[in-house]
Amino acid sequence: MFKRIVICSGPTVEPIDPVRFLSNRSSGKSGLQLANEALKRGIPEIILITGPTCLNMENPGFTVIPVETALEMREQLRQYSDAADVIVMAAAVSDYRVAQYSKEKIKKSQETLIIQLVKNPDILFELGQRKKSGQILVGYAAETDNILENVREKFKRKNLDLLVLNEVSAQNPAFHVDKNQVYFVTAGGFQKLEMMEKSCLAARVWDEIEKLVHKLH
Ligand code: CTP
Repeated sequence: MFKRIVICSGPTVEPIDPVRFLSNRSSGKSGLQLANEALKRGIPEIILITGPTCLNMENPGFTVIPVETALEMREQLRQYSDAADVIVMAAAVSDYRVAQYSKEKIKKSQETLIIQLVKNPDILFELGQRKKSGQILVGYAAETDNILENVREKFKRKNLDLLVLNEVSAQNPAFHVDKNQVYFVTAGGFQKLEMMEKSCLAARVWDEIEKLVHKLH
């Protein structure tokens, strides 16, 4: 059904100085499970663009492209996204990077330290802007409050076909766990899924993508 798919996964890491960085708690598990499931379904070209994780991504069935920063992830997507039938943006992209990288290690000479941050580009939004006809774009979101309104707006603004929404709470921490409870958001509305293993969820995400493709053609 698909020739080439691109999955972005893991955190991005934004350097502050040679020994420090800004990042987040993403483990990269969801992206890897999506790639494994795509392989089971016989998708010939699976490109996994991933920020640094502790997972072993080695698999002869994937092309793994390691990146560190949001700007590097965006650069790799520029190369691979146009010819992709499906792009899944499961990466936890750092919203900000430091304005001025320090080539020398910052010394603890001051009582307080202010590091100025600048916004990273919204990669998913950019992908939505240049989406090809027939291409499927999948985004992820993690929300803690006002979730349904926030997500409806995000789905439209980013020109998505499917948004996988994590409602982050004490019962559903979402990061560094093997199970997840999510909602699927499509143009047709919301669907609440039960709590399940990330590997099962990856299969449900591909089922939903295949359904969307049938509707498109
Ligand atoms: N994303 C992206 N580029 C960014 C930030 C996020 O491509 N600079 C993508 C993520 O990979 C994810 C989606 O956008 O698929 C949603 O990210 P999220 O952080 O939940 O929402 P934001 O749109 O960044 O909005 P906010 O943080 O304000 O809720």
